[in-house]
Amino acid sequence: MNYENILVETRGRVGLITLNRPKALNALNDTLVDEIGHALDGFEADEGIGAIVITGSEKAFAAGADIGAMANFSYMDAYKGDYITRNWERVKTCRKPVIAAVAGFALGGGCELAMMCDMIIAADTAKFGQPEIKLGILPGAGGTQRLPRAVGKAKAMDLCLTARFMDATEAERAGLVARVVPADKMLDEALSAAETIAGYSLPVVMMIKESVNRAFEGSLNEGLLFERRVFHSAFALDDQKEGMAAFVEKRKPEFKHR
Ligand code: HXC
Repeated sequence: MNYENILVETRGRVGLITLNRPKALNALNDTLVDEIGHALDGFEADEGIGAIVITGSEKAFAAGADIGAMANFSYMDAYKGDYITRNWERVKTCRKPVIAAVAGFALGGGCELAMMCDMIIAADTAKFGQPEIKLGILPGAGGTQRLPRAVGKAKAMDLCLTARFMDATEAERAGLVARVVPADKMLDEALSAAETIAGYSLPVVMMIKESVNRAFEGSLNEGLLFERRVFHSAFALDDQKEGMAAFVEKRKPEFKHR
């Protein structure tokens, strides 16, 4: 498949999607987000892939939704077409883990796309922000919902209301980012984390992803109940037998369902 706005490749057991609209700092248009969805469909169906990385360029992960494309929209255009978020949830519904590898700007929809992924690994050059207020709009792909859950109300209000950018150190301190690494090591770090995940039992990886997302999205009691049910079901997996036998026998596990 030839994509217009992204590059898609596999690195070992990892699927890599690189946003590729360099002239517009990877501004997210409808086609680009459709293409991400299509690439994720492919990786999800591919048994050789255990985890996915989405990255951008050195200068920008993505500088937001494409402002030119929406500048003249009417309310009806936006509402009827479910603009632009119609196809965004595909990142969230992917059952394999998705890592956002972020260097440079991750602004507006770019920050929201990163937050839809399961974790963010950032270069020390990364800058996160929700500057939509400067354009007379507000975040529309989860910025007012995922950001407070990640960094707390105070910082989320600060970013959304003042439009200031948060650097990688602040983002890590606040809990938005899992790891910060030097820019030239960032993609390797993300690919290596993804390869590690892809080496584990895929059903267990998916159970963990689903359970952690429950903590993010629902109440504590619901989440604990969900975790317990999934935890018990893990004992039905031959990978559980293998993982524990390998520990007892002091050898590396050979997971069957990767
Ligand atoms: C369209 C964009 C863009 C965007 C940058 N470009 N961001 N085009 N949509 N979101 C284009 C510029 O127009 C310019 O094109 C080229 O990319 C390089 O950008 P510069 O501004 O020249 O670069 P620089 O001076 O380094 O400034 C970088 C920047 C700035 C700080 C990131 O570009 C910027 O503020 N961008 C907009 C950020 C933003 O407001 N994002 C939120 C968008 S709304 P030309 O052709 O002039 O070279 C949003 C809503 C989401 O995301 C709602 C739900 C999905």
